[in-house]
Amino acid sequence: MPEAGDISADEFRHAGHQLIDWIADYWEHPERYPVLSRARPGEIARALPASAPEEPETLDTILRDFEQIIVPGVTHWNHPGFLAYFAVTGSAPGVLGELLSAALNVNAMLWRTSPAATELEEVTLDWLRQLLNLPGTFSGVIYDTASISSMVAMAAAREAASPGVKTRGLAGAPPMRVYCSDQAHSSIEKAAITLGIGREGTRTIPSDAEYRMQPARLREAIERDIAAGDRPIFVAATVGTTATTSVDPVLEIADVCEEFGLWLHVDGAYGGTAAVIPEMRWVWEGVGRADSIVVNPHKWLFTPIDCSAFFSRRLDVVRAAFSLVPDYLRTSESDVHNYMDYGVQLGRRFRALKLWFVLRAYGREGIVDRLREHIRLAHELEGWIQATPNWEVAAPVPFSTVCFRYNPPGVDEETVNAVNLAIIDCVNNTGEVFISGTRLRGKEVIRLAIGHIRTTEEHVHRAWDLLQQAARAVNAG
Ligand SMILES: Cc1ncc(COP(=O)(O)O)c(C=O)c1O
Repeated sequence: MPEAGDISADEFRHAGHQLIDWIADYWEHPERYPVLSRARPGEIARALPASAPEEPETLDTILRDFEQIIVPGVTHWNHPGFLAYFAVTGSAPGVLGELLSAALNVNAMLWRTSPAATELEEVTLDWLRQLLNLPGTFSGVIYDTASISSMVAMAAAREAASPGVKTRGLAGAPPMRVYCSDQAHSSIEKAAITLGIGREGTRTIPSDAEYRMQPARLREAIERDIAAGDRPIFVAATVGTTATTSVDPVLEIADVCEEFGLWLHVDGAYGGTAAVIPEMRWVWEGVGRADSIVVNPHKWLFTPIDCSAFFSRRLDVVRAAFSLVPDYLRTSESDVHNYMDYGVQLGRRFRALKLWFVLRAYGREGIVDRLREHIRLAHELEGWIQATPNWEVAAPVPFSTVCFRYNPPGVDEETVNAVNLAIIDCVNNTGEVFISGTRLRGKEVIRLAIGHIRTTEEHVHRAWDLLQQAARAVNAG
């Protein structure tokens, strides 16, 4: 008789209890793992069989291999010593929500394919909109990533500027142009590639000394393109740029966009979350005038990856850009959101569930307290750096990310760059913390981002000790 049906409820229960214990233990004792995996390229793949098993295997065996083979190849993003890129958190409530969404396995493509998934997405995003102090004219959609949210925004801009493109494609239309600063995330340029605007159609506006877009240069670029017969359609401003977390002057950029009738998109993938904190509302100045905004709960709002919140005052335009309903997906309900109409993908995960768990489990106060603490820790670190000879802060610190470098006097730029790269490697090799770097106008800098829910002053202090030790070791070598 061929096997049919799933494993038994008892076997699931047994493995499930073991798994929850494993996760709780993992979070309680992160120090047992190096944050940055020590695996060599190919090592994990070689440890695994070349083909799937012929015979069934027990969940116990699979869990054992998970621990012995997979975990050593994991870089521990959910470790409080993770201070690289933008540190993120898969929080306990978020993980529970994620588990339930896998268990339900609904596809939120149409309202009727799971009314609760659609309506919870509407409600949760409206809660988030209020927490972020955005006007009630904005409504939202959850996508997987900010890259996709920004691509959707650019597609909506293209639709608003030239509705015929949906039917006829780009041929025959004047070349479209989009604008962002030289500090914008590469996802803006990727969106332009995807939408047929291209890298050459993406105008990179120079940033100022504090890495913010210069609105006067934006205006010049738009005027130049119009004079050349091109078609400006879209501007991306960033609140919390990837390298230095700078805040573009959204208010002045909004003036330019309104003057020329361009779609203004605000990429607040990381920094936008800070608008929940009353004294950080300034980062959001002018954002209410944007056409669309992206904030990633999977970055700095304790929600397991992936979860990107897209808000727009013009969701009707997003819908017009994407809606295409085949016969088999026609439904009779009116006045409902069929979220498949708002993007490229049909199938959609029930992502709102984990965000709902997170917002409820911490509440506004809990979220504000945690974000405030991360910002406080970043300013502590900034102070330690400023007070230490041979070290310097490389950019303003508006949020919880600090860019800095070791810069002893009398050393040429090339050597300073090499020393900073060596310091990063040396610190990461300890396995205690993981930091990253970036290049700012030719200078290699160290970049430390605080964003994990369990990162404390002790972790940041330890990272600073390790950095100073590394600088001494690199100098001595
Ligand atoms: C400002 C900014 N926008 C967009 C992104 C891309 O985010 P995602 O991975 O969600 O596409 C990043 C990634 O760090 C970012 O820093």
